[in-house]
Amino acid sequence: MAQRFAIYLDANAGLPLKPQVKEKIIEWCEHSADYGNPSSVHVFGRKSKQAILRATDSVLASIGAGDRKRPIGKLYFTSSGTEANQWIIRSALKEDTLWISNSLEHDSVQAEFARQQSNTRFLSVPVENSGQLGTAEFLKKFLKQNSDSPILISQMWVNHETGVINDLTALIEMRRRHQNLLIHVDCAQGWGKLEFSSYLLEADYLTFSGPKIGSLHGVGCAWVKNGAPLVSLFPGHQQHGLRGGTEFLLPILSVGWAAEGLLDHQQLKATQSIIALKRNRLEQELVARLGVEVNGGSLDRVSNTLNITIEGISSQSLISRVDLRGFAISSGSACSAGTGEPSPVLMAMGRTQEQALASVRISLKGNETDEELQNFVEVFCDEVRKLRDYS
Ligand SMILES: Cc1ncc(COP(=O)(O)O)c(C=O)c1O
Repeated sequence: MAQRFAIYLDANAGLPLKPQVKEKIIEWCEHSADYGNPSSVHVFGRKSKQAILRATDSVLASIGAGDRKRPIGKLYFTSSGTEANQWIIRSALKEDTLWISNSLEHDSVQAEFARQQSNTRFLSVPVENSGQLGTAEFLKKFLKQNSDSPILISQMWVNHETGVINDLTALIEMRRRHQNLLIHVDCAQGWGKLEFSSYLLEADYLTFSGPKIGSLHGVGCAWVKNGAPLVSLFPGHQQHGLRGGTEFLLPILSVGWAAEGLLDHQQLKATQSIIALKRNRLEQELVARLGVEVNGGSLDRVSNTLNITIEGISSQSLISRVDLRGFAISSGSACSAGTGEPSPVLMAMGRTQEQALASVRISLKGNETDEELQNFVEVFCDEVRKLRDYS
């Protein structure tokens, strides 16, 4: 069980339930007997169906795709962002498709690459040490010689480890001119942290993960533009006939309620500015006191994420030690946590294995107090000092 006083600084792995979502879940549980199988035609089934439609509307509204009369795409609820990523990629790849992606993508994309490796043509966009990707330039050069092959581009909006924001405008611009191009954007870490840019709706596929915006765990979404191919994942009549199985009602409703909290853009911006102030203060202190290097620090980043390399220590030891003193941080993606492997993202950014194994990610949820963060800095610096003394 988590220690009562533990402070959670691992928001990129998933936010705690948003208070307004928690309230609605409790209220829903009071009336749960009124909700039947969403496929049933009686009043209980219809109530669930309506609730799912409302959740769909809220998610679509949060990304500016909520025009019911002229929908430009469909939303599918999945068990996770991982499932959405892999379903999308499997749907878009045909025999002759060239898949262009990069080594900074989330493990769920890398895992699909490992699965597809033997039957897919793949190109990886080089990564600069800063964490910058030049996918549009790379594609432009490629298209000069090979304008006919169907191409799938998978590129994330915001990196889960460094928080670096990818500017996808040039890529989307190219999508307008090339009909044989499909673009898949993993929005899991940008959703809820950045105002949703309308140009992203010109991509063919978008991935979302509910817990990143404070829903229950175990729910994600795939948004698929009209006309983009989507294969049947599980035969059945649910979810437009492409993902069979009775819908997981409460997680779906929870992601709708969490998405409602993103509709006030002014509020979202104000919250993010406050988080940025906290993160920047934390960053300045750790840089000044420990001489750490900030990964992705020269690029635009989301406001809550700080990824640092602390030369001369082992991140696993540091994470365990600060955990014992009540602060939860990570060495990167939760999916690869505890493997003891160096972060593939940092390795792709040119860090040595030793540097990657000496790096941690601190990601704020936003409601940390100044006192909590100051205590964290003291504990963190103290433990780094001890580890450096031992080595
Ligand atoms: C960028 C990115 N994509 C996809 C995922 C996978 O989402 P889920 O945890 O819902 O499977 C994550 C999770 O951390 C992520 O950060």
